[in-house]
Amino acid sequence: QDKPITTTPPMGWMSWFPFIDKINEKKIMEVADAMVKSGLRDAGYKLLQLDDGWMAATRDKEGRQYADTSRFPHGMKYLADYLHARGLKIGIYSSNGTQTCAGYPGSYNHEELDAKTYAAWGIDYLKYDACGEKENHTDRELHTRMSKALRAIGRPIMFEICIFSSGDTHLWGAEIADMWRTGGDIVKFIERTPEVTYKNWYENLGQVVGKENYAGNGHWNDPDNLIVDYPRNNKQTYEEQKAQFSLWSVVSAPLILGNDVRNMFDATKQILLNKEIIAVDQDKATKPGSRVISDDQKEVWVKQLNDGSKAVVIFNKQDTEATLSLNFKDINVAKKAKIRDLWSHSDKGTFTDTYSAKIAPHGVNMIKLIAAK
Ligand code: DGJ
Repeated sequence: QDKPITTTPPMGWMSWFPFIDKINEKKIMEVADAMVKSGLRDAGYKLLQLDDGWMAATRDKEGRQYADTSRFPHGMKYLADYLHARGLKIGIYSSNGTQTCAGYPGSYNHEELDAKTYAAWGIDYLKYDACGEKENHTDRELHTRMSKALRAIGRPIMFEICIFSSGDTHLWGAEIADMWRTGGDIVKFIERTPEVTYKNWYENLGQVVGKENYAGNGHWNDPDNLIVDYPRNNKQTYEEQKAQFSLWSVVSAPLILGNDVRNMFDATKQILLNKEIIAVDQDKATKPGSRVISDDQKEVWVKQLNDGSKAVVIFNKQDTEATLSLNFKDINVAKKAKIRDLWSHSDKGTFTDTYSAKIAPHGVNMIKLIAAK
């Protein structure tokens, strides 16, 4: 796909982690209202994606997918209009096999009809999974089919490849899609109950390593959604949740919220609305950062920004608080640099050769570094 629909990583919310497949019109409308009221929309989070579970159990007489009428009594077009009227965009979900992962009708052999149906409703984004029967076809072949069907209808609909065992998706993702998952689900549900520790996102972050150069300029590696929801995801500390947000922005991941935004604590908002960190994710150079150091104590991630500065995240891998230092030569800074802390929103001054900070267990220090004379 040569012309990206958005040049910077999409920002929004998706229903899977907070609601699993129990979604309905009322909840989505309440989420939309909360996105506006909380300031999330104005900070850039505009895409509301309905994941698996929105469909009726069968197709209609014309063979079309449609929203389950008991849960979406006014249908999908009504919901799309409601979201658009609030300056939001609407995303939807389907799968390339005969069934979605939750057992609803998938798009196999219905790609063109489904693309037309989505366009008629005013859909802006499709997350396309890889569940269901598909005879001898490969996921790549079938995702390409849907991509072509979407591109042919004349409405710009963002396309995300969701292939659970993502394998080599990053090698061909940009040819047909705006973004692609780089690994499995960030949170696994056991009997519908998620178990959330920092290890969930740390594993998914690792799946981006080595794929940085395949993303940028409208095509994105997606390590899955943010699991920031303090203090609810209480097996994660506040510092661990800040760390995920920082690292997602440095790798230019789509910033897709995975919390129930109807019911957010201020502490959660403070993370998600950090404008300086959002700006790193959305930087105009659109060049994903990468991990330049990984030793027993820490990781250092660097992203080159459009204004010539660098965003740097120092991640403390250890289970104890530690003072960790950054050597400028490791990130190609000759000698001196001016440093701004993106969590305390303060200028730290000019430093020579190194910079150190005390960092919580599995927490980060996130700075912006401008080379100085
Ligand atoms: C697998 C995907 O990886 C998840 O994000 C979610 O979309 C589920 N399928 C839905 O069944």
